[in-house]
Amino acid sequence: MISVYPDLEALSRAAADLFAEWVARAVADRGRCAILLAGGTTPRSTYELLAEKPLRDQVPWGGLHFFWGDERSVPSDDPRSNARMVHRALLDLVPVPAGQVHPIPGDRDPRQAADEYEELLRRFFAGAAPRFDLVLLGLGDDGHTASLFPDSPVLEERQRWASATRRAGEEIVRVTLTPTLINQADLVVFLVAGDDKATVLREVLEDHPDPRSRPARMIMPEQGELRWLVDQSAARLLRRTNGR
Ligand code: 6PG
Repeated sequence: MISVYPDLEALSRAAADLFAEWVARAVADRGRCAILLAGGTTPRSTYELLAEKPLRDQVPWGGLHFFWGDERSVPSDDPRSNARMVHRALLDLVPVPAGQVHPIPGDRDPRQAADEYEELLRRFFAGAAPRFDLVLLGLGDDGHTASLFPDSPVLEERQRWASATRRAGEEIVRVTLTPTLINQADLVVFLVAGDDKATVLREVLEDHPDPRSRPARMIMPEQGELRWLVDQSAARLLRRTNGR
């Protein structure tokens, strides 16, 4: 489902409302809710809205467990850190138990960090299906999502849940979760805003290029739901939307 909003503010409000509603239902049904967070800049205003009244008082923070879809291998206080962004926008401002916030380690060899994160995920999901209740993702203008970049070896990964990877031409290494794990989710929500995403959004949603060239196309929940929350600028080249 593709929902189009006038601007990033309206998109963020809708995303925050969806987040609050979805996690409350998951906690009520299963006693806990596993959330996979997106980095980058688009989701920041959604996170900020969740830290403010009224949503702050509606979310069952004690039942939420936070994970990241990807992380750059940088110290946690580095401005490029996705964990830093989410802590400043949300997690440092709401009563989530510290033991329920699971950043990807950025201060060690990325391969070791990926192994450790995979181990943490397997412990967390032990005995149950590795199913995130809610996954938030962004879309890069090259069609990447998380740190699943075009034509990267990690796109072929079918066994691992977390892997070290790198963006072509980028000095830092990254850790990303793989489509194998992301596609087990109950609900995946892409947040896409801005004129610079219009071409890639049409390519991903309507042109059906080789998924290796637009890895966001590899995100197809096996049993869960996929929703796109986009603003009008990003949607301007789309031929079909579901409106709101
Ligand atoms: C990251 C994100 C990445 C992001 C896209 C879109 O680490 O940067 O995980 O996948 O979601 O690059 O980023 P913007 O929201 O900043 O456009």
